[in-house]
Amino acid sequence: MLSKIPIKSPADIELMRQACQATADILDAVGDIIKPGVRTEDINSFVHQMTLELGASPSPLNYKGFPKSVCTSINDVVCHGVPSPFVVLKEGDIINVDVTSFKSGFHGDSSRMYFVGGKEACSKEAVELVETTHHCLHIGIKEVAPGKRIGDIGAAIQDYIKEQGKGYGVVREYTGHGIGREFHEPPQVVHVGRRGSGEIMRPGMTFTIEPMINAGTRETDLSKIDGWTVRTKDGSLSAQWEHTVLVTEKGCEILTASKRFPAI
Ligand code: MF3
Ligand code: CO
Ligand code: CO
Repeated sequence: MLSKIPIKSPADIELMRQACQATADILDAVGDIIKPGVRTEDINSFVHQMTLELGASPSPLNYKGFPKSVCTSINDVVCHGVPSPFVVLKEGDIINVDVTSFKSGFHGDSSRMYFVGGKEACSKEAVELVETTHHCLHIGIKEVAPGKRIGDIGAAIQDYIKEQGKGYGVVREYTGHGIGREFHEPPQVVHVGRRGSGEIMRPGMTFTIEPMINAGTRETDLSKIDGWTVRTKDGSLSAQWEHTVLVTEKGCEILTASKRFPAI
């Protein structure tokens, strides 16, 4: 059963832009503090405080019992890494920081990858995975337009990964999602699939696209210890990029676009 997808009014969209802009500004600033020796707990404190300074609140905190204000996912962690004072960034790590801010009644959700110690410090394999995954996000975004289908997004991403022939796996257990007054609302946005499947996109719909790509098998394991951390089953690296987008009359607007880094 497909559930009803909320359509945002022009007034809703203006408020949602504010939440999404706060998220983008936080991710811009996170880029300035990521370096070897920083604890993921430090990233959490930074995101938490900046969120409050922007007049927003961090959506992850206490969401279904999540204990922190941001997700920090390093190397083989696919998503939902839990910040900790015992996890220290080291040169050559790749990390995803996933920020969701709640402001003026709406959520804005976006995540980016960062190279610890700079791109030069990371392996060729890591850089290639991060850049390919970024490309996947934008290939998905290019599919967004009124009259097209949600399934076109995943189909384009899956086709691209297959074409690359690198043996990468597209994660299936975790997906993009509608977003607005709720953190997660319909539709579900899977990152694989068939063209022409899924709901029809209509102006005023807002959802995330957030492909998770593994360097090896697409299969994942959920930590039995914290109940949150998702890792690749084979220990391979994983990358993820996420934007919140709006379907417009003409096509698509990236609501969480970065002011400082327009190419992101
Ligand atoms: N921000 C994540 C997403 O992209 C969800 C995190 S849920 C949390 O959907 F509880 F782990 F924060
Ligand atoms: Co997110
Ligand atoms: Co999301």
